Amino acid sequence: MRLKGKIAVVSGAAAGIGAATVARFAEEGATVYAGDLSFKENSEEGGILRRRLDVRDLTLWENLANEVSGAGSAQILVNNAGLVGTYASLTDVSVEDWHSVIAVNQTGVFYGMRVFIPQMLGRGGSVINVSSIWGAVGAAGVAPYTASKGAVTQMSKNGALTYAKEKVRVNSVHPGLIATPMIAAQDPNISADVVRATPMGRIGEPGEVAAVILFLASDEASYVTGAQFMVDGGYTAQ
Ligand SMILES: NC(=O)c1ccc[n+]([C@@H]2O[C@H](COP(=O)([O-])OP(=O)(O)OC[C@H]3O[C@@H](n4cnc5c(N)ncnc54)[C@H](O)[C@@H]3O)[C@@H](O)[C@H]2O)c1
Repeated sequence: MRLKGKIAVVSGAAAGIGAATVARFAEEGATVYAGDLSFKENSEEGGILRRRLDVRDLTLWENLANEVSGAGSAQILVNNAGLVGTYASLTDVSVEDWHSVIAVNQTGVFYGMRVFIPQMLGRGGSVINVSSIWGAVGAAGVAPYTASKGAVTQMSKNGALTYAKEKVRVNSVHPGLIATPMIAAQDPNISADVVRATPMGRIGEPGEVAAVILFLASDEASYVTGAQFMVDGGYTAQ
């Protein structure tokens, strides 16, 4: 029960890494507010409160923060919602596609921290922002995704440095290729290329990322802030 008595908020909670994180957090005793665009109505079961959340919408974030503050205050925030959107390059991507990816992956993370960090100041809290290997090292094409994930890396360090004295830790997690609906929808040739470039030679499982997120959320990570955690089978070690 590593999160007993804690309140956690997870975005992008309906599938993949987010769903695995919600399940681990609940097993470890947290009350989890699970937000996702695809949740049509509110539901509650086994310490998991599912809420419709579009991370692009600041008002929905504020409503969720108000609800959570009525129940106590959030000690854990996982900004996980994200999408690739387009594989287009800087010169080919449409301006609309550019803004739509930045709105979810970058501005959504900004909104999450903006509304939930105030609940943590002085009391203690852990923010985990899900970036990517492509927010740590370069990749060709996929221009808005790499830009947004690089921003998530720096926003995490910024939050870590800004709020360190007020007991808020902020870290980023960088998954390699993980078996989720996002990857199932991707061109298999792209996934095969990433597996070939992965020293472990295999795709990762959502639970392998959730385990690292759980560590960062827990008090075991009490001296860890501003760090980048690769969960990538060695991809970025090369
Ligand atoms: N799967 C991978 O290989 C991989 C690799 C690196 C980074 N990541 C990152 O991990 C995170 C989770 O990825 P995943 O593979 O589990 O994705 P996924 O597509 O399987 O699940 C993402 C979830 O986010 C939700 N979502 C999408 N847009 C949203 C919005 N505007 N508001 C709220 N919820 C929204 C979706 O409904 C879905 O439930 C993402 O940030 C992704 O960029 C994934």
